[in-house]
Amino acid sequence: MSIHIQAEKGEIAPVVLLPGDPLRAKFVADTYLEEVLCYNRVRGMYGFTGIHQGVRVSVQGSGMGMPSMAIYVNELIQSYDVRCIIRIGSCGALQEEVEVHDLVFAMTASTDSVMNLERFPLGFTYSPAPTYTLLERAIQAAREEQLRYHVGSVLSTDSFYHDNSDLWKQWARFGTLAVEMETYQLYTLAAKFNIETLSILTVSDSLLTRKELNSEERQIGLQNMFDVVFSIIRS
Ligand code: ADE
Repeated sequence: MSIHIQAEKGEIAPVVLLPGDPLRAKFVADTYLEEVLCYNRVRGMYGFTGIHQGVRVSVQGSGMGMPSMAIYVNELIQSYDVRCIIRIGSCGALQEEVEVHDLVFAMTASTDSVMNLERFPLGFTYSPAPTYTLLERAIQAAREEQLRYHVGSVLSTDSFYHDNSDLWKQWARFGTLAVEMETYQLYTLAAKFNIETLSILTVSDSLLTRKELNSEERQIGLQNMFDVVFSIIRS
């Protein structure tokens, strides 16, 4: 057991899907996995392991934001030997061509977080990246399913609510596709521990149009993301 995950060694698969929302973890386990074991209930941050078409996979809630996510990622890797973590999350669009419902595959991330200042001194900036083969497989799956998708950079922010509500426009000017709250640190930790990673995001809202998915639309959007992630797992 680790501090925040109550699983026994061996109960978590080497490949973990990482939604922020623990209830989304439950939905994924209920919908896509067989022979499901719930290995974690600490703080309501559910974790499940099961079988998807013969492949053993786990799905673990990570909470919102990089500090929470980093706790689970550190423990998954260091206490449970996890070798691949794929985030399945949501994001807010920063570009006109990125519409609600679309998928975003994060090729890199920028951040306003200071978490990496502990690793790299002020004046030095680490540019995190996903595992190329996972990115390639995600693109291939999205193409095969004829889904709308975008590949590029995201902004991983520490704040959902900003005092300066126009700040995102500068990131948009520099081509950032979308804003979310976890990818920068996920990719950093994956690099630190030499494991595989990718962030697959569903666009749930747009900072340009102020459009938001309603709950029914959100379900369809998430379905596309799950199709892509399970296609990667099967391949
Ligand atoms: N995740 C989904 N939409 C978001 C937004 N607008 N800002 C930050 N994280 C998000």
